[in-house]
Parts: sequence; C-alpha cells; structure tokens
Amino acid sequence: MRKKIVAGNWKMNTLPAEGVELAKGVVAGRGEVCSCVNFIVCPPFTHLSQVAEALKGSDVALGAQNCAAEAKGAYTGEVAASMIAALGCKYVILGHSERRQYYGETSATLNKKMEQAYANHLTPIYCVGENLEEREAGKHFDVVKAQIEEVVYNLTEEQFKELVIAYEPVWAIGTGKTATADQAQEIHAYIRKVLAAKFGAAAAECPILYGGSCKPSNAAEIFAKEDVDGGLIGGAALKAEDFLAIGKGFQK
Ligand code: PGA
Repeated sequence: MRKKIVAGNWKMNTLPAEGVELAKGVVAGRGEVCSCVNFIVCPPFTHLSQVAEALKGSDVALGAQNCAAEAKGAYTGEVAASMIAALGCKYVILGHSERRQYYGETSATLNKKMEQAYANHLTPIYCVGENLEEREAGKHFDVVKAQIEEVVYNLTEEQFKELVIAYEPVWAIGTGKTATADQAQEIHAYIRKVLAAKFGAAAAECPILYGGSCKPSNAAEIFAKEDVDGGLIGGAALKAEDFLAIGKGFQK
C-alpha cells in the first residue's frame, strides 16, 4: 500500500503569524479527514520554527521548499539541509519548476541537494514536469524521463525507498488549468515505469503526487486514479479549509 500524501507548498506567501494561523487551522480540522492521508505543510524558511511549534502533537508533518546544495560555509543567503532538519522538517521540496525556471536549478545542482537532504534524514519531494511548449510538441514523456534519469537514477536503492515524486505540468501551475485525471494517470503510470526500469519492484511503493491547480473540486477525480497518490498543492493550500477538503478527495 502506497502512502497517500497531501502536501501544501505555500511558496512565498504568508507572514509568520499568518502561517501559524494556517497551520493551526490544518491541525484543528485534520480529524475530519481519513487518518490514512499524510498531510505535510511547507512554509517559507522564516517561519518553519513557529509552524513547527503549531504542529506539535499533531500528525501534520513539516517540510521546507528548498535547501542548499552545500553542507555549510560561505554561501550567503543559502539555508542548509541540516538547518531545516534541526527545525523539525521531515521533508524538502526539490526541483520545483519555479526553482528550475527562475533560479537556474539544473540536474547537477539537484543531485547535490538530494545528497544533502538524505544526509540530513529529510525525505525529498522531487518535482518533475514539462512546460506548455514541450506538452504541445508531445515531448512530455521525454522531459520527465530525463528529469528522473539525471537525478533519481543516482540514488541508492535505500534512498529511493524514501523518495516522494511530484508530477507538476508547468502549464497547470497557478494557471487554473488542471491536467485531466486521465492525463495525470497516463504520465504517472509512465513515471512509475521509468522508475521500475531502474529500481524494479520498489517503484510500486513510490508515492507520485499530482500538482498544478489541484483544488477541492477536482482532487477526488484525480486521486481516484491508480497511479496518483496525492497532491502537491500551491494556491489551495493557503486556506486550511480548502487544503483539508482536498484531503477528503481520497476515496480509496
Ligand atoms: P498550484 O501550485 O496548486 O497553485 O497550481 C502547485 C505547485 O506549484 O506546487
């Protein structure tokens, strides 16, 4: 049985006090959702510590949105994986398309970040996904395959067993345009096949999340698909009520 995960990527939103309120709202309503759903919230670095405090005693886990490629030292403005782990993070989002696109993250950088995450016992949520041009040219399969081969294939079998993958088509992120449930299933199944080519049977256990304008109204249909194990939620994670309602989309 694969883990069911609903993870909130808050991106660069909320001030510390707002983040704490949001986290408290998730904790307060969590009981209304199946305990089979693993909730994760990923606030900005600046309020990880306060949100960790707000999550105490609940089963809602904490994640960060990024970490540095190096362990420590003279890297002005960077935040090390060891630092976020020390604040109580269990997860770290790596390779989000916004990081790839606006901050030039390459597979080479991501290999180093993955190494840092594992060295600090953080579970990476590794994001893959094609942009609109690539989708229209029918290259989406090749794009996600390369993103997996260049990074995930470098993991050991032990590391792979901890990994979470998020498929996020760039054209669906923050655009209100969602992949159809069938489109999601098609590529999730493909991703699992690419993982199985390297890791064999362990690929059947890897949670693959869908991300991109996932909301309460479409979550159930997408999550009902065989190879979709939950969601990485942006906009709709900023309201506790919506975020929890997405969790209620799990019917399997
Ligand atoms: P969205 O973002 O739900 O706002 O489309 C998802 C993401 O980028 O993680």
